[in-house]
Amino acid sequence: DVVAKKHDVVIIGGGPGGYVAAIKAAQLGLDTACIEKRGTLGGTCLNVGCIPSKALLNNSHLFHQIQHDTKKRGIEVSGAKINVAEFQKSKDTAVKQLTSGIEGLFKKNGVTYYKGNGSFVDEHTVKVDALEGNENALLQADNIIIATGSEVTPFPGITIDEERIVSSTGALALKEIPKKLTIIGGGIIGLEMGSVYSRLGSEVTIVEFQDAIGASMDNEVAKATQKFLQKQGFKFKLGTKVLSGERNGDIVKIEVENVKSGEKEQLESDVLLVAIGRRPYIQGLNAEAVDLEVDKRGRLVIDSQYRSKHPHIRVIGDVTFGPMLAHKAEDEGVAAAEYIKHGHGHVNYGNIPSVMYSHPEVAWVGQTEQQLKEAGIKYKVGKFPFIANSRAKTNNDTEGFVKFLADSETQRVLGVHIIGPNAGEMIGEAGLALEYGASTEDIARVCHAHPTLSEAFKEAALGTFDKTINF
Ligand code: FAD
Ligand code: NAI
Repeated sequence: DVVAKKHDVVIIGGGPGGYVAAIKAAQLGLDTACIEKRGTLGGTCLNVGCIPSKALLNNSHLFHQIQHDTKKRGIEVSGAKINVAEFQKSKDTAVKQLTSGIEGLFKKNGVTYYKGNGSFVDEHTVKVDALEGNENALLQADNIIIATGSEVTPFPGITIDEERIVSSTGALALKEIPKKLTIIGGGIIGLEMGSVYSRLGSEVTIVEFQDAIGASMDNEVAKATQKFLQKQGFKFKLGTKVLSGERNGDIVKIEVENVKSGEKEQLESDVLLVAIGRRPYIQGLNAEAVDLEVDKRGRLVIDSQYRSKHPHIRVIGDVTFGPMLAHKAEDEGVAAAEYIKHGHGHVNYGNIPSVMYSHPEVAWVGQTEQQLKEAGIKYKVGKFPFIANSRAKTNNDTEGFVKFLADSETQRVLGVHIIGPNAGEMIGEAGLALEYGASTEDIARVCHAHPTLSEAFKEAALGTFDKTINF
């Protein structure tokens, strides 16, 4: 028996894109439904992405600090050890509180939540195949938003069992700390999950096809990042191709080849993490029923207002163009709801911050030096190291720097790149500057509190057009 219901907006997928779109649409007075098949809301980010990874990063950092960074602070601690079950439970608690919090927000805002798989019947009809204990439904919708997200890109020929050969999902739930962890891919997932296990004692080796780590980072920042991770014990095999890999009992073997020399090598580890990117996910959506256009990389094709070829069917988040980031999906969710209600919405794609939650953190927004060179834009660089910042000194946490890129003539901020403690929080100030078209002089003339890390930000801005004071 199928319940037939009519809604102004039906959203397929309850991740950061979908759940935020649902709340916003309901707040705008639209009768809104959200379909999610996972059983919990929050999508990849809250269930198996941003949130659990940050819980593990935070706690592993604390453990590492207790072990290696207390003595010189006059704190004597002995016998610190990891209880893996409790360590995982602490993460699970954060996830559970946040995902169930969204259910509460749905109730508060009057969003109808369908637990099940949503698929197209026709351009205005979506079928819900309910999870056990829930009712199937047939939904009539004036507007539909697809927010079905992404999934792990598999490595051809290497089978993920989520035990010894894992994706990020398995890496977030290991029952033992591997002695040796090999990671294919020196992108954000590889470096964040590598940081977690390196701090817990694993010997971490990153195998990366490119000559640099850090995917879209500024080249100078990527190099500096590699250096501090090496200091923490990471081993890097750059310019290296993985030829094959398989599990043999409790050991995983892979064969790799140096791209330049052609030299081959076998690597053995207890756990292999495959982290070579993510790809759009539309399985089970029956997109064929409405003939949606998909590009070569599997992304649903849209225009600048998130519209597919059917103007009332919009697409947001990881399943379409742009960086695969939660805050990008969220902002698109708000904008898509506003387009439906008002006919306009706003996301500035030149101003989407990236943060890698290593220690120190790496954060950036706007353009990289290599992009400015390629575009032939004349720019000036301002830099300030945390070693010369008083708060970083008092915190005994002085690695890294702030780097500003500003237009040579106008001093307009073009990009900001930070390695340092709390870089992820500090990059918000750079976003505000970019959004308002600030110059570096505007920033350098703003009074920043002393002693704070943000003084390094101010001084780096100053460095693009004048002498820095403290360095
Ligand atoms: P998703 O979060 O993937 O949500 C899509 C949802 O749709 C899923 O829950 C899925 O079950 C559901 N769905 C799919 N098809 C259907 C269907 N037919 N019917 C019903 N439901 C369906 N980003 C950051 O910004 N910061 C981070 O720190 C960060 N850390 C990450 C760490 C890891 C390990 C990973 C894997 C990702 C991380 N990301 C991070 C990326 C972030 O998780 C994604 O960019 C974000 O979740 C995308 O949101 P979305 O709503 O587009 O898709
Ligand atoms: P990624 O795109 O960041 O990095 C993948 C890396 O793997 C690249 O460096 C690439 O050169 C390399 N690679 C690709 N194919 C390879 C091969 N065959 N052999 C060796 N190396 C290969 O993808 P990643 O790390 O899997 O993350 C997926 C997505 O999740 C990203 O888009 C990222 O933005 C998002 N994410 C964001 C986080 C954050 O914001 N803090 C944290 C974790 C993930």
